[in-house]
Amino acid sequence: MALNNKRGHMAYLQPSLVLLLTLSLSTIAVDRGNFKTCDQSGFCKRQRATEPNKSPYVAVLSSINIQPTQLSVQLLNKNTNVRLNLQVIAIKGNIARLRVTETNPLKPRYEIPVGDVLVDEPVQQGLEVLSKDSKSVTVGFLDNKIAIQSDPFRIDFIVRGEPVLSVNSRGLMNFEHIREKAQPPEKAGEEEEKKEEPKEGDGEEQEEVLDDDDDDDDDDDNNDDKNNDAEGEEPGMWEETFKTHKDTKPLGPESIGLDFSFPGFEHVYGIPEHADTLALKSTTSTDPYRLYNLDVFEYELDNPMALYGAVPYMIAHNEKRTVGLFWLNAAEMWVDITSVTADKNVLSKMVDFVAGGDEMPQIDTHWFAESGIIDVFVLLGPSANEVFKQYASLTGTTALPPLFSLAYHQSRWNYNDQDDVRNVDAGFDANNIPYDVIWLDIEHTDGKRYFTWDTGRFPESAEMIKNISSKGRKMVTIIDPHIKRDSNYKIHQEAEAKGYYVKNKDGNDYDGWCWPGSSSWLDYTNPEIRDYWVEKMSLEEYQGSTLDLYTWNDMNEPSVFNGPEITMHKDALHFNNWEHRDVHNIYGMYQQMATALGQVKRSQGKLRPFVLSRAFFAGTQRWGAVWTGDNTGEWGHLKASNPMLLSLNLAGITFSGADVGGFFKNPDTELLTRWYQAAAYQPFFRAHAHIDTPRREPWLKPAEHLDAIREAIKARYVLLPYWYTLFYLSETSGAPVMRPMWVEFPGDKSVFSIEDQYMVGSGLLVRPVTEQGAVGVTVYFPGTDQVYYDADTYKAFPGGQNTYIPVTLNKIPVFYRGGNIIARKERVRRSSILGRLDPYTLVIALNKQGRASGDLYIDDYQSFSYKNGEFIHRKFTFENNKLTNSNADSSGSFETASWLERVRIVGLNRRPSKIQITSSSGTTELEFKYDNNNDMLTIRKPSINIAQDFTITLQ
Ligand SMILES: *[C@@H]1O[C@H](CO)[C@@H](O)[C@H](O)[C@H]1NC(C)=O
Repeated sequence: MALNNKRGHMAYLQPSLVLLLTLSLSTIAVDRGNFKTCDQSGFCKRQRATEPNKSPYVAVLSSINIQPTQLSVQLLNKNTNVRLNLQVIAIKGNIARLRVTETNPLKPRYEIPVGDVLVDEPVQQGLEVLSKDSKSVTVGFLDNKIAIQSDPFRIDFIVRGEPVLSVNSRGLMNFEHIREKAQPPEKAGEEEEKKEEPKEGDGEEQEEVLDDDDDDDDDDDNNDDKNNDAEGEEPGMWEETFKTHKDTKPLGPESIGLDFSFPGFEHVYGIPEHADTLALKSTTSTDPYRLYNLDVFEYELDNPMALYGAVPYMIAHNEKRTVGLFWLNAAEMWVDITSVTADKNVLSKMVDFVAGGDEMPQIDTHWFAESGIIDVFVLLGPSANEVFKQYASLTGTTALPPLFSLAYHQSRWNYNDQDDVRNVDAGFDANNIPYDVIWLDIEHTDGKRYFTWDTGRFPESAEMIKNISSKGRKMVTIIDPHIKRDSNYKIHQEAEAKGYYVKNKDGNDYDGWCWPGSSSWLDYTNPEIRDYWVEKMSLEEYQGSTLDLYTWNDMNEPSVFNGPEITMHKDALHFNNWEHRDVHNIYGMYQQMATALGQVKRSQGKLRPFVLSRAFFAGTQRWGAVWTGDNTGEWGHLKASNPMLLSLNLAGITFSGADVGGFFKNPDTELLTRWYQAAAYQPFFRAHAHIDTPRREPWLKPAEHLDAIREAIKARYVLLPYWYTLFYLSETSGAPVMRPMWVEFPGDKSVFSIEDQYMVGSGLLVRPVTEQGAVGVTVYFPGTDQVYYDADTYKAFPGGQNTYIPVTLNKIPVFYRGGNIIARKERVRRSSILGRLDPYTLVIALNKQGRASGDLYIDDYQSFSYKNGEFIHRKFTFENNKLTNSNADSSGSFETASWLERVRIVGLNRRPSKIQITSSSGTTELEFKYDNNNDMLTIRKPSINIAQDFTITLQ
């Protein structure tokens, strides 16, 4: 569900407007005034105004300390004399880490505990000093050189002689040290003495952090001769007001900014979540891309405004290489992007780099965070798949979801009562549409008290769930992080008594307005409170639930209707007294983590969890799925779902989807149909709708559309073996399931900004119809050495060209890429699990050399037993007219009754004279049919267990 903030907020302030706003749902536009621009955010404005090429930072090379796997060196700010510590660490797997902290901080800065985002302390690896003089030091590891220049401070990363990343090359580094607010210097001096001594005695004394002399020059004239802090004092440093909300900023300015340039690159991607293009745009005439988890009512397309989740991770790609940049920091962040021409003169000084005649492109980026530290991981690739692996080694991979969660989900705000649920469930059966999960939004509860039921409408919830699950289906209920402040509500009683709520700046329970009215928020950043939440998920605690009930965490940005920017005050206090500003972007992920762990625990560790979250952060992939929040039933939003999901996939969050049909507004039948067709080929596939929209279950649509929608959902079920296998492979490799074209065709520059078509795995090219009234789409088939086959007709299309594909209402342009073998289950049942023992059809899409290969992964589809080796991983290979089925992983052992029903070989230009299958049970001849209109061979009933070794030979 979610929320009509404006309505919720107004309900609080001005009840008379509620009806009016509800009725005016047809006018869709974000209220931009609710959200800050960069100019309205003190630190963003200050950081963005940093002047280039005037860096006050010097790397004090006399302070360098070189260890086997890392070096540290002090950075001196010449204007303030404040010192920072830079660590450069080599990490296994071709990763470098840069950490910058204050040498003598007045107060510690927030760092996310290891284990929460970083799966573990990264394993370091050796580096060596390659050269060192008074001006610079160069260290090397693997194929990389890291050149640190002293004055002005900059770092260049050079891979095999080519520069790939420059840090502070524009001199935009600006580390606002934590300082005392204006007060007598003696007081500041006392504070100073309480701190530990500076570590390195290199002769320079640590200057007082506060230097408050001549404060007469109020205007911001960027005079870099000034060397005091007060000169940099600006309104908003110690207190900031947005609309009616005051941020007391007790710690004052503590933001951090740094520039990163990617020489040789023209395309950067990632840093979700934005309703924007896949290839990120220059921000020279807009605000920077903003990363701040926000509940944006009726979000707009094509802009860099923040949305529900944030992953501070960017990927640069060119024909030669891919590089990733991950800044581990959970505070509000903004990122500026500019496309420029590299300054080869500067580069060649640092780099053994031939300044050829060609201009070299470059992407300049400038990142700034409100608090925390600089902790940046440079993922050196060099291939996209290696970058995915590197990021996964830091933050984890997408946990293999239970099969049902990859199937189709039916949701709306709300299914009203048990009868409604029963009727919708029956509607799918009556109309022969498979589905796996039915969802209940906030109205199922007793007054928005989560873990309760509206017993008037859901008197027998457990029986209702049992009825649903008797067909292999599941149910999901919503559980949000805001807790109704009601002294009769158990969770509130407990949370209040135990002190489990986030506190306001004065140390009292933070309260705000959300769905239940006056609410408080559990502090999931505290491990003890997460443990408490884990117990709440148990069947005893969550009455009326069963093991077939799963969870949806919405509103966990967190959404606070009457808070600044519809979220929590930044000076609210969390575990260990960290401010909300420090942990804002990770708060929602902690709720999803605790919910998922609770589901695991309620089944004694047996069953895999399923939790959908709206807020997300780096590492969310370990805990469940996300969706793109409250989109709108308009063609533009359907089209935008692809770049938005591709960006999430690049950022490691592959299990992601967009509400089918759009949350707001009423999609017409054509749009709804096209939406189903697109989402059937996106990783998370759920229909959902706002409470004020007309019902839109597929059978309410005209027959022609109902048929097309049914076919789209069936297409998803037929390909579930492929999706499931891809998710398994993703869990082991970190590779996304839904891939931008460039991931599969890294050397083809013409695909670098394509976002209306993409690859599912390496084997399916999808170009969903996202245009109203379309009678055709243009598909780009990359690679002159490639061939593709229409998934419906098996017609072949040569690679290396744009091709016009005519479409009718029920056509989804999907193509097998030659060279792939894809397993299908063509008997569609009412739910995915009912087909677990069904037979397979293999589609063998031959490449131009007449070869193909593919994987099939099978387990019990729901438990963790596969982690103990209870799985089957088969490898299919076709070459020299032979199809071989062999074991891809001998550590797995599992049995299935599924057999091979059919083999379709596409792109075979001759009719075999005879076909034989050979296995441990001998050799037999197989029946087949050859269709020379589309070069397709169908082999009937090989009738052999899918997990058994065999060879099928064409003669
Ligand atoms: C469960 O299914 C039975 C049999 O169809 C039906 O009689 C009963 O009302 C259902 N219960 C609920 C809670 O929907």
